[in-house]
Formats: sequence, structure tokens, C-alpha cells
Amino acid sequence: MIHDNGSSNKSGNRSFEDILQVRMSRRTTLAGGAALSATGFLAALAGNKLFAQGAEAATSQVVGDSVSQVSGDAIAQARVRNLIKFPPVSPADATGPLPSISSDYKFDVLIPWGTPIRPGGPEYDGDPNTRPTSAQQARLVGIGHDGMWFFPIGNGNDQGMLAINHEFGTNEHVLGKAAPDSLEDVRLSQHAHGVSVVEIKKSRGKWQVVGSNKARRIHVNTPVAFSGPVAGSALLSTPAGNAPLGTVNNCANGKTPWGTYLTCEENFNGYFGAKGPWTSTPEQARYGLSATGFGYGWQNFDDRFDLSNPNYANEENRFGWVVEIDPMDASQTPVKRTALGRLKHENAELVVGRGGRAVVYMGDDERFDYIYKFVSEGNWRAMRAQGRSPLNQGKLYVAKFNDDGTGNWLELTISNPVLSAKFADQAEVLTYARLAGDALGATRMDRPEWISAAPNGDVYCTLTNNTRRTAQTTNASNPQGPNPFGHIIKWKDSNNHVGLTFDWDIFVLAKDTHAIAKSAFGSPDGLWADPDGRLFIQTDGTQPVVNGVQLNDQMLVADTKTGEIRRIFSGTAGCEVTGVTVTPDYRTMFVNLQHPGDGDPTVTNFPAAQGSGKVPRDVTIVITRKDGGIIGS
Ligand code: FEO
Ligand code: CA
Ligand code: CA
Repeated sequence: MIHDNGSSNKSGNRSFEDILQVRMSRRTTLAGGAALSATGFLAALAGNKLFAQGAEAATSQVVGDSVSQVSGDAIAQARVRNLIKFPPVSPADATGPLPSISSDYKFDVLIPWGTPIRPGGPEYDGDPNTRPTSAQQARLVGIGHDGMWFFPIGNGNDQGMLAINHEFGTNEHVLGKAAPDSLEDVRLSQHAHGVSVVEIKKSRGKWQVVGSNKARRIHVNTPVAFSGPVAGSALLSTPAGNAPLGTVNNCANGKTPWGTYLTCEENFNGYFGAKGPWTSTPEQARYGLSATGFGYGWQNFDDRFDLSNPNYANEENRFGWVVEIDPMDASQTPVKRTALGRLKHENAELVVGRGGRAVVYMGDDERFDYIYKFVSEGNWRAMRAQGRSPLNQGKLYVAKFNDDGTGNWLELTISNPVLSAKFADQAEVLTYARLAGDALGATRMDRPEWISAAPNGDVYCTLTNNTRRTAQTTNASNPQGPNPFGHIIKWKDSNNHVGLTFDWDIFVLAKDTHAIAKSAFGSPDGLWADPDGRLFIQTDGTQPVVNGVQLNDQMLVADTKTGEIRRIFSGTAGCEVTGVTVTPDYRTMFVNLQHPGDGDPTVTNFPAAQGSGKVPRDVTIVITRKDGGIIGS
């Protein structure tokens, strides 16, 4: 998501960077009083060999992957032995109008914006002189491809349902003009947002969308339901009495062990605006609502998005949630799970913790906002057997990172006197979770994006950047104020994800990769920890200049055991690389290119042929190893 609309967090809670500085100073002291270099200090962090990669890079021989078709017990061994051995994409290849991939790999175009949800339906091919109608777009894959997940059918290695988020598309990109002129224009924009669920199948070596009664589009006007503690609250009802509709700015995602998809509503505030006089409440201000929004202009033709229309008061409270979708049942009503709180939700990483509890880690992507964790009341299987959703009853926490490398999860509960002094009930705490986090002294982070949990219990979170972080104590070990390139942190919770404390560490400061051609990156965003110890890192934003080359956004793979990082894929100019999911055999990966060329056909026509004049389209691609091996090896 390219919108980065400032910071609404004026709470004054201690920032993550303050704490890093203190903590590093402390570690430096503990190390014997001698100041360590940045590399030396960070390499010394417990169990983190990442910064040893500088030395490794000088002597590394890039060799081809030797994983061939192995089977049985050999697979596990081979997967570990060959964590990342692919030839990296060079900086010279990681620029320009077209994507590049490691020479051990290949990619195919699968699902661009405008693909029929079911073959035989309408189609949009990027012709700049025509656009789909809103009715057609409601039957087409949307724009702004972001988080997604593959749900296997059969053994899943050649067939499944793919749920794809459609985060955003500018009016210029979707409508071909800066602002809507009619309700039809607004509906076209709205129908390009939301989620697509399509069935895909591999035949004769090629994946394609196939006919399916499970396929569907969910967009801004699709009926939805609320569930959990805020359902039924006056905070979610409007004077107009309109039924809840739609999901918007669907950023990243999660998936549940019971087979459903979680889509996360991020910058919903940008779609609201005020047609007439309007004064923001403190709660609206904290969620970034404004008279102009991001300039979509929906409020001028659709009263639901007009903050100044008293009939639709509270409509904005219906957005900013995690939404559960059944990818196997097109008739299911998407459900907004209010127990997970109302934020600018980036993703929802669900792991099964101690006692079989469903634990969901979530970032709130804005400068100086927070990281959250939800823990279900009980064992997820038992709750479902009782007809209860594990995502309806449980506790929501916000993270506080302490100076000494420990952290605390602070419960957002109305039974805390600090919160009962400010909020009427638990529904209000959850609807205004950001303000509850402010009141409890949560740690203000550098834009928490994706969170991914590895099977060994390590949890990684991208902190994409924060240009508004002021310069503080500057030294070699702690240079990130401002923080233009971002970093990745990791933590391990106590008590197998359900405890109230955690230990945290820095995984990588992006700027420290910039001297290494194969690994230089900035603005980490998408993230996936695979079962073998690889961490896939996708970027969205400013990339470094390496050897005189301005890098495009990209995907890299880190070996979390050695700290080595290699670039596996580079997107087109002007795109974001986001969304990552694989088949059960780990041999097919699906990845999205969002807004190639920022929608400008003079930058790139991808996925249409260069020189075709076609509008570049957001697209899902398929990545495989040429030898059929494990992705990332
Ligand atoms: Fe939608 Fe924070 O990226
Ligand atoms: Ca981003
Ligand atoms: Ca993102």
C-alpha cells in the first residue's frame, strides 16, 4: 500500500526506537564497556548471526541449487541442507520495466486484474480506451492484489482455491481519471476492491483459472455480518438503519486451521470524506478520517461514505476489522470478527498455541502504531465443537517492548480501571483499540506490517519505515531516526504463544544490507516464515541504489539460521511485491505484483507485452524452480 498518511498517534508513549537505543547501550555496556561497531554489536545479539553475512558475502560462491527430485526422508534433509543456494538476481537485473527472477527459477503470469472469476465471463485486458462497467467488474478479479492464501483441493499440489485481497486502485488506474463523475464510477471503483476467490488448476504444467461454483467476488457492496463482542453495539448501527455491507482496503491476510481465510481492512479511512461541513471527533481523528480522505471521492455519490451525512453516522466503525471468509462456500456471508479489535489491520498471523488456543498476531500499519495479539478463550477444536468461533471469545493484547529485551502483552479489557475510566464497555475498547493502546502505554512502532510465525516459535514482524521518527542519539549502532528503510524484529512468546511476556531481538536493519549486492533492500512489508527456517521478505517502498542502479521492489529469502539473505525476484518498476502462498509440496509459490508502473503505461505494460500501450495490471504470478524443487532453495 503506497498510502502513508502520517501519524495519528499523539499519545506520547515511548517509541520503539527509544527503547532500542537504551537496550543497545545496555548491551554494549554488558559486553565489557567497549563500544562495538554496528556489525559487531548486532552480530552479538543472542542467536542472531545475520550480520555475519557481510564477511560471508565477500567469499561466497553462488552455486546452483542441487535439490533434485528427492523423496521420503531425503526431503527433510535436502531441504535443510539447501536452505538458500539459488543464484541471486543481480542489481543490474533488478531494475527496469519487467520482472526478473533467479536463473534457477521461472515465473508465469496467472491472474491479472480483469480476469473472469469464472472463465467465459467478461474480461478486461488493460485497453486504456475502455474500462469494465461496474457490473462487469463485480464478476472480474479486482485490482491492488495484496495478501492471499491457497486452499488445497485434493492433495492441493495441482488444484485449489486462491483467495486474493484487492487492497486499492487509484481513480487514475481504475477509472482512467482523477475523480468519479457518477455513482457508476464509484461503483466501478468499489467493485475493483475487496477479495476474489477463484479456483485454479494445473494442467499440462500450467496453472489457470477454472470454472467453479466456489468462486466469488466480495467487494464494498457485498453483505457482511458482525460477530463477537461489538456485534449488536450501537457503535455499529447507523440512523439510516442500513445493513452492513462490504470490505475495503484489504491489505494482508491470515488463514485459520479450520480452513477459512482472514482478510484485513487497513486504510479504510481513506475511502471516507465529507461532502458538507463536518468536524472530526477525537476517535475519528485517531483513525485518520478526514474531509478529503485519499481523494477517491466516493462520498460525493454514495452517502454511506459521507462523514457529514448524519444518517450514516458510525458507518466508519464498520471498517477496520479482520474478516473471515470461507473459500469453499460461495454462499457464506463474510464475518467481521470484532474480538480482534479495530485497527488499520495489516495481517493476521494465526498460530495454535498452548492448549490448542488460536493466537493471532496483528500489526497496525501507521507510523507510531502498535502490535497486537489475540488469544482465544479455549482450544479451537473444542470451541468449534460447541458451535463457538474461536475468534469471537478471547483476550486482546497490545505489545510493550521493554529496554532489556523483554516485552509485555497488555490486555485491552474494560476490567482494567485505566480503561474503564475512559471507555463505557468492552465494545468501545475494541472499536477504539488504538485509543485503548494509547492509554496502556503500548510501544509506538515504525509502521508494523506483516507478522509471520515460524514453527520454532520465533515470530517476525516487518517495520517498514518511519520517515517521521526524529533524529535522536545517533551512533553506529542505532542510526534509525529517521528510519527510511525499515527493519525486521523478532520475538518469542512465553508459554507457547499464550503468555503475557516475550523476549525480542532485532533480526535485521534494512540499511545494513545495502553494502551487499545480493541482499540490499528497504521497506520490508510482506513476510512468510517457511517450515525449514527460510524467511521470505517482500518490499514496498524505497529501495536502495546499488552499484548505481535504483532497485525495483523485490522478494528476498533469508536463511534465519545463518542470516544470509538473497534476492530471488525483482518486480517491475513502480510495483510492490506482496502476497506469498505455496502449494502443500512447497514447489509452487504464488506472489502478487501490486500496481506495476504505478498504473502508468509509459513505465511498463506488464503483464501485457511491452510496447502494447496497455495499462499495467496488478497480477498474481506463479513461481517454480526449473528443476521442480522447493521454493526458496
Ligand atoms: Fe497495506 Fe501496510 O500495507
Ligand atoms: Ca507497505
Ligand atoms: Ca503491506
